[in-house]
Amino acid sequence: MRAPLNLRKVLPGLLLLIAITAGCRLDMHLQPYYRPLAKSDFFNDNRSARLPVEGTVARGDLHEDTYFYTGKVGNALGDFMPFPVTPEVLARGRERFNITCATCHGRVGDGNGFIPTRGFRRPPSFHIDRLRKVPIGYFFDVDTNGYGVMPDYAAQVAPRDRWCIAAYIRALQISQNAKSSDLAAGQKMPSPPPQFRDIGTGATLPQEAPPAPAGEGENK
Ligand code: HEC
Repeated sequence: MRAPLNLRKVLPGLLLLIAITAGCRLDMHLQPYYRPLAKSDFFNDNRSARLPVEGTVARGDLHEDTYFYTGKVGNALGDFMPFPVTPEVLARGRERFNITCATCHGRVGDGNGFIPTRGFRRPPSFHIDRLRKVPIGYFFDVDTNGYGVMPDYAAQVAPRDRWCIAAYIRALQISQNAKSSDLAAGQKMPSPPPQFRDIGTGATLPQEAPPAPAGEGENK
């Protein structure tokens, strides 16, 4: 008959064994590696840092639609939008324009923004003949690459939003040079100013009052 295992005698030894062997796990603690940019004898060009395979494109950098990202066809500026202009596109353009551009260019694009009153160069009005004739891709290009003292806004404004702004600038130009024949039937020129329920504080936007029913509420 075997002697019963004496736990008291065995336990200290067992604990010691566990303690010693617990440190003996190497798994992936040691593995061959190169220090950054170290020399390598393995490759013919002696570089340990390998070049990406030719034609590799970083994630998110595949700009296949060049017009969408440059506003240019070859070297020439294009005069069309890369996507259809819907009321949402113009609303988005107005919002982004008012946030990013109106500080200098003014809300109607006349160049009377706030920043020029503090010494920055006053931008030209978008309603001068020269800028009314530029192709729409020009606005995208200026926004993307800057122009003269104006910095570029490529980092702040995503490409699609830059197009929305370009479309909105065109809309501003049309609005500032509209003829009565451009108006919808029945609309007066100048159109009645909007009525505000709450003019806002500057931190909050003005709340427009709902339009008065036709025939009523006009300047009596
Ligand atoms: C910090 C002020 C400032 C902001 C913000 C600004 N601009 Fe400008 N912009 C200027 C100035 C100043 C010029 C004139 C630059 C010059 O002539 O050196 C200019 C010129 C322009 C021109 C006309 C270039 C020409 O041919 O005369 C366009 C188009 C334009 N900006 C678009 C934009 C758009 C779109 C935005 C918003 C994304 C924007 N700008 C934001 C200051 C600004």
